[in-house]
Amino acid sequence: MTDLADAPVRQVTLDRPFEDQKPGTSGLRKSSQQFQTPHYLESFIEASLRVVPGITGGTIVVGGDGRYGNRRAIDVIARMAAAHGVAKLITTTGGILSTPAASNLIRSHAAACGVILSASHNPGGPDGDFGVKINGANGGPAPESVTDAIYAATRQLDGYRFLEAEALSLDSPGSFRIGSMQVEVLDGVDAYAELMQTLFDFDAIAALLRGNFRLAFDAMHAVTGPYAKRIFEQLLGAPAGTVRNGLPLEDFGGGHPDPNLTYAHDLAELLLQGDLYDFGAACDGDGDRNMILGRRCFVNPSDSLAVLTAQATLAPGYAAGLAGVARSMPTSAAVDVVARELGIPCFETPTGWKFFGNLLDAGRITLCGEESFGTGSNHIREKDGLWAVLFWLNILAVRGCSVAEIMTEHWGRFGRHYYSRHDYEAIASEAAHGLYDRVKSMQPTLVGQAFAGRTIATADDFAYSDPVDGSLTSGQGLRLLLDDGSRVVLRLSGTGTQGATLRVYLESYVPPSGDLHQDPQVALAEMITAIDALAEIRTRTGMERPTVIT
Ligand code: G1P
Ligand code: ZN
Repeated sequence: MTDLADAPVRQVTLDRPFEDQKPGTSGLRKSSQQFQTPHYLESFIEASLRVVPGITGGTIVVGGDGRYGNRRAIDVIARMAAAHGVAKLITTTGGILSTPAASNLIRSHAAACGVILSASHNPGGPDGDFGVKINGANGGPAPESVTDAIYAATRQLDGYRFLEAEALSLDSPGSFRIGSMQVEVLDGVDAYAELMQTLFDFDAIAALLRGNFRLAFDAMHAVTGPYAKRIFEQLLGAPAGTVRNGLPLEDFGGGHPDPNLTYAHDLAELLLQGDLYDFGAACDGDGDRNMILGRRCFVNPSDSLAVLTAQATLAPGYAAGLAGVARSMPTSAAVDVVARELGIPCFETPTGWKFFGNLLDAGRITLCGEESFGTGSNHIREKDGLWAVLFWLNILAVRGCSVAEIMTEHWGRFGRHYYSRHDYEAIASEAAHGLYDRVKSMQPTLVGQAFAGRTIATADDFAYSDPVDGSLTSGQGLRLLLDDGSRVVLRLSGTGTQGATLRVYLESYVPPSGDLHQDPQVALAEMITAIDALAEIRTRTGMERPTVIT
């Protein structure tokens, strides 16, 4: 590697600041084209480097999910970090770094922050999306105080500085300097694989995978390919080919790297229609989401969190039990029932991982999850797709039964929360906001009204008071709570990049004595019709059916 120690500092003056760099729940997420706009990426990075505490003389971790723009962004960030007096920049071979592995590196290297390059499950490529997420020293998404300050800084920015240096060579691990900054290129998988070995019984899982048990893992041509190959095929001895679509591609092979029944359709069909495989799983673009499938059995993410909570002590990393659990508000209350039985606290937070961070840092919870295929624990401060897959495999290895048997047993003990999320994607912004604002304004009059053969007991807009720092977060979703414990929630997505996305969350509880084996769409049919009538979803969006049903 060329020694870049003498690289000169350059200064660029901006004619005017960018106005549209407000980070959402998952960082700054825009089209790849937008990020190609001259100075656009640089502006956001400059603002971040000025605002995040501990940058000068500190360590930062940089890497991404391999999508189009990843390598260029790493070069830009390295040059700018060097000009800002960062002492050490840690990145990975090929710049490939999953979000959970980044969280782990930030924590284990006591970094001031991480810069994660990803638009998560959004499509990639020149016509797809790109994103930059700033994580704090705890390894989790930066708190709102920091992202607000970054946004404010972008709006006043008059320029940025960088060290003029050639493109980094990230082909293999090594170390070199840019100016006085040390760049360390690590193998992105090593530390993560080691961490997983401390949490799960790799011997038991290896015995399972070397037997008749057939696993299919779909990396969706995104970041988890190299991680999954190392862990499942090399360390655990699953047959070659267990990991499908394992090569990270800049455009994810043209796919939509979101592990759900719609976008991970091939895998879903393999498990739900066929009998060749016992277990199927997929992760999203940046590796923090997971989908779990058994033979002819889909595990709803809300149920997955409940099962992991109920069976946690079977995994060595959780053998001592759980301090508590948390779920996002739209996630079903399946985990609440388990927590009650275990006698541990259960918190209900707004959507987005950062709300779990405070609870994890304070030691109030051990596991947490969201209905959107995100599950995680106190091992890092992000959700973790492969971690969830390994947790399930650990449970199955110890229990020696199938996924379907685990689910039947779980519902038979705790009852079942029939659950579904209907997404209406990329609808006109005015239509979405019109619909939402109308239901919101109707809320006070809804209480006591009939709804799907039940009565609306409460209608509110979810607000959360953080039990750790006392901060209040409001406007988190319109809830209709029915008198039998069922509910419907309406929310507008904070992560979409085209138009608006309306999410409708439906949930209905059946006790252990009830009918536990219905199709959720059938079990929820009356509520689906009722919310459409109330919110005028079809007429106002012009869509006959949701884009994605989970
Ligand atoms: C979506 C999910 C949410 C998750 C977020 C980031 O956000 O619904 O649970 O935390 O992606 O992965 P939304 O688009 O609903 O705002
Ligand atoms: Zn993701």
